[in-house]
Amino acid sequence: MKPAPADLPHWPYPRWIAHRGAGQLAPENTLAAFRLGAQHGYRMFECDAKLSADGVLFLLHDDTLERTTSGQGLGGALPWAALSRLDAGGWHSRTHAGEPPATLDAVARHCLANRFDLNIEIKPSPGLAYVTGEAVGREALRLWAGASGAPPLLSSFEPEALAGARQTAPALPRGLLLETLCEGWLDTALGLGCVAVICDHEHWTAEAMARARQAGLRTLAYTVNEPADVARLEAWGIDGIITDAVDRLSPV
Ligand code: G3P
Ligand code: MG
Repeated sequence: MKPAPADLPHWPYPRWIAHRGAGQLAPENTLAAFRLGAQHGYRMFECDAKLSADGVLFLLHDDTLERTTSGQGLGGALPWAALSRLDAGGWHSRTHAGEPPATLDAVARHCLANRFDLNIEIKPSPGLAYVTGEAVGREALRLWAGASGAPPLLSSFEPEALAGARQTAPALPRGLLLETLCEGWLDTALGLGCVAVICDHEHWTAEAMARARQAGLRTLAYTVNEPADVARLEAWGIDGIITDAVDRLSPV
């Protein structure tokens, strides 16, 4: 039986979420990408956060710097002072050359000042899942202290990272990211006290979404860039859609 809305966790977030801050049309995980997403009407953003060598949370999707910055090697091996001098925009386009990497602090302040919602994906460097989750939870509590809007949604593919976030920020909402609906996905999400499951859209089925809802979990999908996929997911009752296609899929 489909549970009544009251059985599902409170969900203060918009349906549409710009992936990596609108990171295809602008350099992913930079403030330029967040600004571009906002220009297209987006009011919630996803980003990837990891720790620098000296404990600063900053945005970077990959373990390494080569693809999206002018740096080399593991992003988490450098202190923030070195990371902050890299070019995180030139790889994308000449227009964005010189765009600096962003700290989570800067992105949070940008979102709070504009009343945007944020989904912080905990994207740990290898071996640092738990401590990165702890750090994201701690930092999110500090940054959103006293804020009147929705709290940030913390998500990760790594259960250890979500366990770390729960340790330092038990009241912040958590979402388990899934590449597939692997064995035990629902129990893992429930065991971590998650409010949501966020799966690759190609793997959601109507039945799986209904199972998640019956268990009291919200459902989200990434990375949804085609209208036909949006229609299918909406028919199944999806709560959140993470997209790159901020110019083609309009939230307004
Ligand atoms: O959080 C959804 C999505 O960002 C997960 O995949 O690899 O783009 O971080 P990825
Ligand atoms: Mg991500």
